[in-house]
Amino acid sequence: MAKVKTKWVCQNCGYETAKYIGKCPDCGAWGTLTEEVEVKNSQPLKSVVIDESPVCLINEIEITESIKLPTGFEELDRVLGGGLVQGSLVLLAGDPGIGKSTLVLQTAGNICAKGKKLLYVCAEESGSQVKLRAQRLNVNSDNLYVYSQTNLEAVITQINNIKPEILVIDSIQSIYTSNITSSSGSVSQIRECTNALMDMAKNKNITVIVIGHVTKEGNIAGPKVLEHMVDTVIYFEGDKYKSQRLLRSIKNRFGSTNEIGVFNMADSGLEEVTNPSELFMKERTDNATPGSVIIATNEGTRALLVEVQALVGATSYPSPRRVSTGVEFNRLLQIIAVLEKRIGINLSKHDVYVNVIGGIEIDEPAADLGIALAIATCFRDVVVDPDCVIIGEISLSGEIRNVSNLEKRIYEAQKLGFKKAIIPKLNKKLNGNFDIEIIQVPRLMNAISACCSKK
Ligand code: TYD
Ligand code: MG
Repeated sequence: MAKVKTKWVCQNCGYETAKYIGKCPDCGAWGTLTEEVEVKNSQPLKSVVIDESPVCLINEIEITESIKLPTGFEELDRVLGGGLVQGSLVLLAGDPGIGKSTLVLQTAGNICAKGKKLLYVCAEESGSQVKLRAQRLNVNSDNLYVYSQTNLEAVITQINNIKPEILVIDSIQSIYTSNITSSSGSVSQIRECTNALMDMAKNKNITVIVIGHVTKEGNIAGPKVLEHMVDTVIYFEGDKYKSQRLLRSIKNRFGSTNEIGVFNMADSGLEEVTNPSELFMKERTDNATPGSVIIATNEGTRALLVEVQALVGATSYPSPRRVSTGVEFNRLLQIIAVLEKRIGINLSKHDVYVNVIGGIEIDEPAADLGIALAIATCFRDVVVDPDCVIIGEISLSGEIRNVSNLEKRIYEAQKLGFKKAIIPKLNKKLNGNFDIEIIQVPRLMNAISACCSKK
């Protein structure tokens, strides 16, 4: 007889306990514990076996180059670190309706066109729904198998029949294994299914793409529980009401996690945006506005030009508001403190709002100077020359520090027709010839006087 056991599992972080508690002691979330009845087979479940290779000295190990399969989307390949690694498991996470199924189906079409066999398991939709979408996306191939199924064991049987090279699971929350009785989408189920899929990826050398919905709390499927198990985690982000989509990797065993991929959702599916700076600049009007500046940020191997806007106004709250979108909050507070102390801009009675246009998250200090100038110009009602791009980190003493990949950033600005770049004062020559006016500034004060003019 199989042994029946119940346990309470936090759907947010996977914490398990024998009794109900209102607040998860692990992640601190309230009311996230649900009771899961688990029927374990008397035989223990097989754990993931990667390889039965002997123990050996590091000097004796030969490196086998992993085979990377191009996905037909350069933007996706870059985020993956060159392509889909054979035998790896990739988790594609994102809000419901953001376009995950669309991206995967288009990618499947590209891969199948190269003669690879792919099995698309649609656990959320019927085969005809997938067919309709495929028609709209112009995806058609004799190598693309579609299977509308929610049971993992049935999927594994079909994998043994069809022997695909790539497997897509859409989505992990809708699939269940008969090994345990918890409902699909529960932490136990998604963990167990992912484990089995990981096992298969490694043993059968099948590349697996798993789609996971981000739940309200901002985690995948009650969540973070899958991230440590899989090889690569990529997030598909964007505003549902806008067509622009960003792909970013937060974990990658085969490449860098700094890269981003940019797509545009059109009527006929996702289109790659190979020059994202152009897209981010598109909505800009020619007239300069106080509080609007262009900065050059670095995302992985490329530079991106993005607009930062600030709004500064007299506050009607007891303590002034500081709101930042796309900029780390503490970074904003630090920049405000430097502006107050070093420039004498008193913001203690002003609300400050900072927004990065285009849904980009900036987490590098090279954006400091741009943010400071956006706030300062809005406060003083002056404008930054619209043809000028701003690059530099600000130290607490108000000095402008050098940033990484400076030349690449200037080059991107030049390419997009900017006439001027405000950069940190360098004690060496710039690497390369630029056809753009370059102004080196040692301090924040100099930067303000170098690029601001009356409206
Ligand atoms: P979908 O891939 O179903 O999202 P997810 O799998 O992440 O839940 O995408 C759904 C949205 O994408 C839907 O609101 C309509 C939009 N869309 C387009 O704009 N163009 C298209 O060609 C397709 C297929 C979808
Ligand atoms: Mg979907």
